[in-house]
Amino acid sequence: MKILAIIASPRGMKGNTGRLLDEVLAGVKSSGAETEVLSLKDLDVKPCVACDICHKTGVCNIDDDYETIKTKLLACDGFILASPNYIFSVSAQMKALFDRCNGLIHCMALEGKYALMVETSGGGEDDEVLTYMSRFSNTLGANSVGGIGSAITGVRTFPDENNLFVKARTLGQEICQSITDKRAYPEQEMFRKGFTLRMSGLVEYMKEYWPFEREYWEKKRAR
Ligand SMILES: Cc1cc2nc3c(=O)[nH]c(=O)nc-3n(C[C@H](O)[C@H](O)[C@H](O)COP(=O)(O)O)c2cc1C
Repeated sequence: MKILAIIASPRGMKGNTGRLLDEVLAGVKSSGAETEVLSLKDLDVKPCVACDICHKTGVCNIDDDYETIKTKLLACDGFILASPNYIFSVSAQMKALFDRCNGLIHCMALEGKYALMVETSGGGEDDEVLTYMSRFSNTLGANSVGGIGSAITGVRTFPDENNLFVKARTLGQEICQSITDKRAYPEQEMFRKGFTLRMSGLVEYMKEYWPFEREYWEKKRAR
């Protein structure tokens, strides 16, 4: 079992989000899963330029690290999205990656995979950011196992830290258990079904222009 973690803090694993992610990863590793951490600060992910080429060919035309990240996302069993809270949202590094995933979203290409969210903030609004990342995961077709977020009390320290870290390690174990059990998340089904209709309808409407996505959905329907 392979779990891919993507961290979007400019401080990489050395910041507050990295500290909390470390605990989640400890839980993942204790379940026997293989982990890989991609730190966006060390990678080049440029903003989407809305050229629509990914919809036509399935491959992004921008010459940077996105296609490598995409390949890893497609190959993992589960993924973790970790971001600091920047103005009630994810960091710009994470948002650039989200936008670049537009082709994956049109295909809901991560169906069957499981996702977990990690967030830290200076002073709160953690749920807002966790919910946003969770929704992003659902648009990719993935199940969201849950998330963990916290304000900080100082550098890499958190209020009620022992309990927070226990919760983080438990969530790390839970994503692995969900993958093993192929667990269903009925409360996310309504959103995913609606989004499936929306994306398959959009691609059908644009079928003349977006042959890659048209074929992707044809194959998906035939499965
Ligand atoms: C550009 C910027 C914007 C931020 N915006 C918020 C915010 O809106 N709300 C908040 O509670 N903290 C905010 N913070 C604080 C960070 O979320 C917090 O320090 C976080 O733990 C940093 O994580 P890191 O060390 O992994 O980068 C902001 C920090 C920066 C640098």
